[in-house]
Amino acid sequence: MSSLTHKHIVLGISGGIAAYKAAELTRLLVKAGAEVRVVMTQGAQEFITALTLQALSGNSVHTELFDLEAEAAMGHIELARWADLILVAPASANTIARIAQGRADDLLSTLCLATEAPIMLAPSMNRVMWNNPATQQNCHTLKDLDIRLIGPASGAQACGETGEGRMEEPEVLLNAVASHFQTGALAGLKVVVTAGPTREAIDPVRYISNRSSGKMGYALARSAREAGAEVTLISGPVHLQPPEGIACVRVETAEEMLDASLKAVDGCQVFIATAAVADYRVAQPADQKHKKTQEDWSLELRRNPDILAQVAQRPDAPFTVGFAAETQQLEDYARDKLVRKRLNMIAANKVGQGLAFDQDDNALEVFWPEGHQSLPMQSKDRLARSLIALIAKRLHSSDNIIDIQHAKN
Ligand SMILES: Cc1cc2nc3c(=O)[nH]c(=O)nc-3n(C[C@H](O)[C@H](O)[C@H](O)COP(=O)(O)O)c2cc1C
Repeated sequence: MSSLTHKHIVLGISGGIAAYKAAELTRLLVKAGAEVRVVMTQGAQEFITALTLQALSGNSVHTELFDLEAEAAMGHIELARWADLILVAPASANTIARIAQGRADDLLSTLCLATEAPIMLAPSMNRVMWNNPATQQNCHTLKDLDIRLIGPASGAQACGETGEGRMEEPEVLLNAVASHFQTGALAGLKVVVTAGPTREAIDPVRYISNRSSGKMGYALARSAREAGAEVTLISGPVHLQPPEGIACVRVETAEEMLDASLKAVDGCQVFIATAAVADYRVAQPADQKHKKTQEDWSLELRRNPDILAQVAQRPDAPFTVGFAAETQQLEDYARDKLVRKRLNMIAANKVGQGLAFDQDDNALEVFWPEGHQSLPMQSKDRLARSLIALIAKRLHSSDNIIDIQHAKN
């Protein structure tokens, strides 16, 4: 499974002799599915050309902090927000010192200061530079700042000496980045996710549906998989490819989604209902195409089954997470739905023009019986990772722990 699909990686390259290995690293990251944006220090450009990295990453390379064109397209703050992870490889002694000091006097150091994404550094330098107490002190500071160091490795060095200070090989760095996203928080558990809209036929060519794109549900399925779960995705009609390593059941109507859900939740521990299921279906869909003969045309609609409530009210109900799309009074409606349907958690989002449906970004207010957490506006992929982490945390809390142990046994 290419675990970096949809991941935004900023690869910082500083001025060390191992900069040439950053080309191979870029290639491996791209091959693993990541979107890579390369940032080079002035020093790095003495060792390898931006052109090489541009060709390998498929994106223009960022080199300047004060750059009118870059700021008009993807400026430094935007790039800092875009990143799911910043990897600096090679990290020179100088760049390590600047990041440890919180300096912001070039693009790479500014990004490291301006991001909320995790940062990993792959130190690379001569063994004496590495063992110098100043460098060691800087590395201690970095660890205190929750910045992770990968390596350095020991061995023959470009300067002809042997010792500690070699940059870890690109494959090792790739694995470190990939394992960052594989949290294992849902390891050994079965998770079912519903996604997308349903379609309710009016006649053989027309249907009632809604604007759900399925992006949130697909991102949640992917994140649950990365967290180690065995995932079944029950999807209404959308234009998305099912994520790798996930069993995907395609359905069209609410009734089909109900059947598929009831089958899939048997023995599952988490059910996440992201699908925007049509509340009503046409009472009697026509066998033939309806002709445009009358001035007015009324359709009789019938209530669709409530999939979420049916799952949540089973005696062996999994940890059930609902979604509420509201245009107003978000908390009131969400909390009401949480209690009425006996859910373990509900993620509420505001919908309306330009919000939630078919957008790449979203924000969620998440409620559970004893608490609440806001997940601010961010990409649906990142939002999905935060929500999966929150679900795992609630699931492993003392109230729910017995059920999980039962599931794992
Ligand atoms: C040929 C050569 C090789 C170098 N290799 C390294 C290296 O491997 N690691 C390192 O920390 N510095 C190395 N340096 C020194 C850095 O390039 C220098 O400290 C530079 O200011 C780093 O800038 P930067 O961190 O902004 O990229 C090397 C310098 C030269 C001339």
